[in-house]
Amino acid sequence: MLGATGSIGGSTLDVIARHPDRFRASVLTAHSNAAALADLCVRFRPDLAVIADPALEAELARRLAAAGVRCEVASGHEAITAAVTGTLCDTVVAAIVGAAGLDSTLAAARTGKRLLLANKESIVMAGALLLEALAAGGGELIPVDSEHNAIFQCLPGGRPELARSGVRRLILTASGGPFRGRTRAELAGVTPEQACKHPNWVMGRKISVDSATLMNKGLEVIEAHHLFGAPPDRIDVLVHPQSLVHSLVEYVDGSVLAQLGNPDMRTAIAYALAWPERIEAGVLPLDLAATPPLAFQQPDLDTFRCLALAFQALRAGGDATAILNAANEVAVEAFLAGSLPFLGIANLVESVLTELPPQAVVDVQTLNERDRMARDAARRILRNAC
Ligand SMILES: NC(=O)c1ccc[n+]([C@@H]2O[C@H](COP(=O)([O-])OP(=O)(O)OC[C@H]3O[C@@H](n4cnc5c(N)ncnc54)[C@H](OP(=O)(O)O)[C@@H]3O)[C@@H](O)[C@H]2O)c1
Repeated sequence: MLGATGSIGGSTLDVIARHPDRFRASVLTAHSNAAALADLCVRFRPDLAVIADPALEAELARRLAAAGVRCEVASGHEAITAAVTGTLCDTVVAAIVGAAGLDSTLAAARTGKRLLLANKESIVMAGALLLEALAAGGGELIPVDSEHNAIFQCLPGGRPELARSGVRRLILTASGGPFRGRTRAELAGVTPEQACKHPNWVMGRKISVDSATLMNKGLEVIEAHHLFGAPPDRIDVLVHPQSLVHSLVEYVDGSVLAQLGNPDMRTAIAYALAWPERIEAGVLPLDLAATPPLAFQQPDLDTFRCLALAFQALRAGGDATAILNAANEVAVEAFLAGSLPFLGIANLVESVLTELPPQAVVDVQTLNERDRMARDAARRILRNAC
């Protein structure tokens, strides 16, 4: 469980705890929250706990010893990658947030283990490389992102070639986030706290801001393109404020298949853990008669420009989506720190995309170098703007 102390981590461990006969969390990782990781170790008794920040390894070991937990302790990103490739696990839940999850996600793909992908930034950065690694490893990738999990459920056999299975369009739904319906003028002064208050989902802060800007939907469009081999023109986004229809697949015969459920990530996680079986996830059944009417509308791309920028980067090809992702991570960090206004996020991403025209994706090293260049450019633009 990579990113055990996060929102997806918590939901995954909740599902695992419901099925002790089927699953055991053998490895737990975190970045810097040693206290939360130690608490999880007390509860889940893994074989190995890894903290990414090496400076905190001693603290983690001390906390575990004090709690009487006898598990191996390690630190650093190499230790996370080693845990993924080692023999302690047969399934990897990739739920680290951001580009920091790329190496471990790629490593999991290469091992041939079942990969439950929540870390969408890794497929946005390195879609082609991730799919190559997956093919070489011979394992399976089950999407955890609720929209892709929904599409996976609505496609025959989960991962077909779209052309041969009669698919006309993939339709990703978006809640619209906390600022749905607002004008640009109304968005000028919104705060991180307002942006992180999602109407339907409880999530980490980075993805919450991405949801508020609709960049999250843009990243998901790119993710859908890679996961399902869908050209950009066959991926649509519809705003659906109730967040009950998690996405849809339109077929050439006029059928539209949708997956519905209460907005709770445990449904997608349980499906991915047990696929092709289904298991209880602790999610309340959907009472359709008691739900508000289901509404759908086109997204406002002029106000929420991040979604348009994501489509633009996908169409541009090469490493443009990695540049988009890196610039967005810096922009969101700055917004959360109070040093960039909400509308500045799209402006910054656009400036970096303009400054760094796309190059062909060669390998992970060049991709990481381009990621670094994009972050440097974003930070320089931010500094100059102050
Ligand atoms: N939350 C959702 O409902 C949801 C839905 C769909 C997809 N996703 C995707 O799932 C991923 C996780 O999202 P989240 O909302 O669970 O995030 P989150 O609550 O912020 O948790 C992030 C996790 O990653 C760890 N982490 C952060 N930086 C790291 C680094 N540099 N190296 C190693 N570990 C690091 C954190 O450890 P610490 O606690 O120690 O910082 C934490 O365990 C994201 O890619 C997100 O887009 C999330």
